[in-house]
Amino acid sequence: MAFPTETVYGLGANALDAAAVAEIFSAKGRPADNPLIMHIADRAQLEGLVTVPDRAEMLLARFWPGPLTLLMPRTEKVPDIVTAGLETVAVRMPSHPVALALLRACGVPVAAPSANRSGKPSPTTAEHVLRDMDGRIPLILDGGACSVGVESTVLDLCHGKPCILRPGGVTREMLTEVLGEVEVAGSVLRPLGKNEVARSPGMRYRHYAPEGSITLVTGAEGDVIRALRLLASDDRSTCILCFSEHMEALRDCRPHDLGSMHRPEETAARLFAILRRLDDEGMTRIYSEALDTGGVGLAVMNRLGRAAAFRSIAASDVLSDPICESQSDRRSSHA
Ligand code: TXA
Ligand code: MG
Repeated sequence: MAFPTETVYGLGANALDAAAVAEIFSAKGRPADNPLIMHIADRAQLEGLVTVPDRAEMLLARFWPGPLTLLMPRTEKVPDIVTAGLETVAVRMPSHPVALALLRACGVPVAAPSANRSGKPSPTTAEHVLRDMDGRIPLILDGGACSVGVESTVLDLCHGKPCILRPGGVTREMLTEVLGEVEVAGSVLRPLGKNEVARSPGMRYRHYAPEGSITLVTGAEGDVIRALRLLASDDRSTCILCFSEHMEALRDCRPHDLGSMHRPEETAARLFAILRRLDDEGMTRIYSEALDTGGVGLAVMNRLGRAAAFRSIAASDVLSDPICESQSDRRSSHA
């Protein structure tokens, strides 16, 4: 069944029942080598299943329940299908009251990936889940819109320095306060290199990208607004994603409101719903403002960057040669 968490909706099954977990993979169309997160309501549920790393204790005290997932060495009681055969299992205690009530009622750890079809953005409302999963799963618990809106932070404490494999609602800054030094996996803000080994299997997969191509437009605020105005021109299948503060200046460019430029939490909460809407509207070219990567901005830029296949252009280049830029962009998007 699907259930709300504070991050995104999850699709859950008894983590200790391999056959039940197999049904998650088939309902989602998920590759079998991409492991799942085990959700718990209570530390006691980890008894006999994992060894909690010493360094995890302070993090659990501070951030659980909440959007922080930790890798932990596991015992053979955790079925291989949950971890894709890895020696660690990802664990998190969500803070959403409906998720916690469900997990308590189940009395077992619940393996749950995001409740989207593989290749779609994670669902942040029950309606998103219904659109992806109607007829494929028996039940959706509707808890309204998710407050964080991007998936949990995945932190690896098991292999050397603490490393963020996937940024999320618990930020690098918050983790650094507790742990001192925290690394961020290289592929968070760029594509995985050809010979690079993914530290988290999820990074290997092509992530959601809308039908149309997204390009990030970077530079000084005023330049970006002027460049977006040029790029969005009057082509009705071109649109822009911009901050609330710029909606008025860009009102003729079919703008989608990313939320305030000073509150990346707002952008995180809206991003996946906006990405889903772009396809519904049949947009073929989308230009977006970029966020500062501080705080939750890192998680937003990871998801937005991947949706854009990390394509970006400098506003100053567009302004110095707009015709050339938009033509070369058009050529490459048709290549
Ligand atoms: O916020 C969330 O984390 C949501 C809600 C439902 O809790 N869940 C979620 O699950 O996003 P999923 O399956 O979509 O993403 C789990 C990520 C994947 O990128 C996976 O590769 C990684 O965690 N992961 C899971 N187990 C791992 C492990 N043992 N080692 C490295 N990465 C792991
Ligand atoms: Mg997912």
